[in-house]
Formats: sequence, C-alpha cells, structure tokens
Amino acid sequence: MADTRLPDGTAADRPSVARLYDFFLGGHHNFAADRELGRRLLAVEPNARYIVAENRAFLGRAVRFLIASGVRQFIDLGSGIPTQENVHEIAKRGAADARVVYVDNDPVAVAHSRQILGDSPLVTVINADLRDPPAVLGHPKVADLIDFGRPVGLLMITVLHFVPDSDDPAGIVGGFAAALAPGSYLAISHATQEAAPGTAAQVQDLYKGTTASAYPRTSAEIIRFFSGFELVEPGLVYLPLWRPDGGPPDRPERAWFYAGVGRKTGD
Ligand SMILES: C[S@@+](CC[C@H](N)C(=O)[O-])C[C@H]1O[C@@H](n2cnc3c(N)ncnc32)[C@H](O)[C@@H]1O
Repeated sequence: MADTRLPDGTAADRPSVARLYDFFLGGHHNFAADRELGRRLLAVEPNARYIVAENRAFLGRAVRFLIASGVRQFIDLGSGIPTQENVHEIAKRGAADARVVYVDNDPVAVAHSRQILGDSPLVTVINADLRDPPAVLGHPKVADLIDFGRPVGLLMITVLHFVPDSDDPAGIVGGFAAALAPGSYLAISHATQEAAPGTAAQVQDLYKGTTASAYPRTSAEIIRFFSGFELVEPGLVYLPLWRPDGGPPDRPERAWFYAGVGRKTGD
C-alpha cells in the first residue's frame, strides 16, 4: 500500500470489496488480507482480472455514450478506488463542463478519491451508503453539483450485486430513479450465475469473508432494475458485447457480468 496512513473506519485485516477490486486491477491500494483472498479467488476464477478489465472498459464506453447523448452530470454509486480512466476524466474529454459525484461507503475508496480529485469544482466524492437514496440525494454536495431538472447519468457499475434482496435493491434503484429527470440514463453492470454457475457459487462463498457479500442474479432479475427505463441497444448483454469498440469479442461469457444502459422514459 503506497500510503501507510489508514483512514478512520478501515479494518485492514478484513478484505474489502473495494480493495479486492483494486488488487484485480493491478492497483496498490490493497492490504495483505485483500491480496490473500484475491489469490484464492484467482484460483477459482482465473478470468477475474479479465472480468474487471472488461468492466472498466464497459464503464468507459457507457460514459462516452452518455456524453454523446447529451448527459453532462453523473452520479457514480459504488465508485471504488480511483484507477486510470475514472468517470470524470472520460466525461471531461467529451465535455469540459461535465460534473461528477462519486459515492462510496469504503473509507479507503473515499480517501483516495479525495486525494486524486483535489479541489476541482466540477467533481466531488461523498462517503455514503447507496442503500439510503434520500441520504445520498439530499447530501449538500450532491445538491451543489447536480441539477435534478436536467438529465443525469446514474452509474451502478459492479455494485448492485453487493446488495442482498433483503435490502430491496429494486426499491433502492427506484428511489434514485424517481429523482431523475426524463432523458436521464441508468448504467448497470452486475454479476450473474448464468454463464458459470459452479464458479459463481464458489466466488460467492469466498466473498462471505469480505466487507460485503455478493449476490449474483439472473438476467431476468437484473432487467427488473431498469423499471421505468428503456434499455438502449443492444440491451442487457455480457460486458464485452455492450457496444464493443472493436470486432465481435471472443467468448464474451468469460466476463460473466451483465451490462446494460437504460434511458428514463416519460418525456
Ligand atoms: C467492485 S467495486 C466497483 C467500482 C466501480 N464502480 C467500477 O465498476 O469500477 C464496488 C464498490 O462499491 C462499493 N460499495 C459496495 N456496497 C456499497 C454501498 N452499500 N454503498 C456505497 N458503496 C458501496 C464498494 O466499497 C466498492 O468500492
């Protein structure tokens, strides 16, 4: 870990889903416990690094698509530990005035986000739990940066599978969606058990020891999160199949996360 100061609330001996993800991305903001579990996960799913790389690539394509569709403000829920090609960097390349709110409940993710972002007036990070939409939406920094009268890009990238059914993930998405103007977009990537049920079950088992258990879902269950949104082409597909930049990807089901982007209807 490059920075030896631990932010308040950090338990270094319990693997965190944010730091595990950083480990898979080849980052340095992870601890021994994260790396140990990361290696056990790699033994179960040797494609793990490929999956997270494809997930970041989907995030990039989705943000570029939203910028091209006229979106100029983003709320990134479960934003993670900053890496290369963060939402504000991608968005800024397409529109210099793009505004981004990063939201995460992991103290390491929030501390590093703050460090990287500095004091840009167009980007902010808040430490909040997405399972409480009114707390996120009512946060003063969100009110400062986001104009809810205009379309918003709501990003829930590789995060909803950390929300159990008992916490009502569809109700949570609906809580955010209700605040968004028509023409807003929702982008989701989400683990599924459909492509590799045995592997997904083993991964799910290993995640029980982390800060957030994982709950892979079927495509039918994930599509329900888009209630009130119209899925744009190509619909809900494996990560590499969502508007790929190059030719058709080889065995896209190796990246066994679904990805989709929907446009809020009602205008
Ligand atoms: C796998 S990372 C994904 C990071 C980024 N969205 C991406 O796809 O590259 C999941 C992130 O969601 C955060 N997270 C999990 N549950 C959350 C919650 N209830 N509220 C806010 N953030 C949460 C974790 O701390 C972690 O940083």
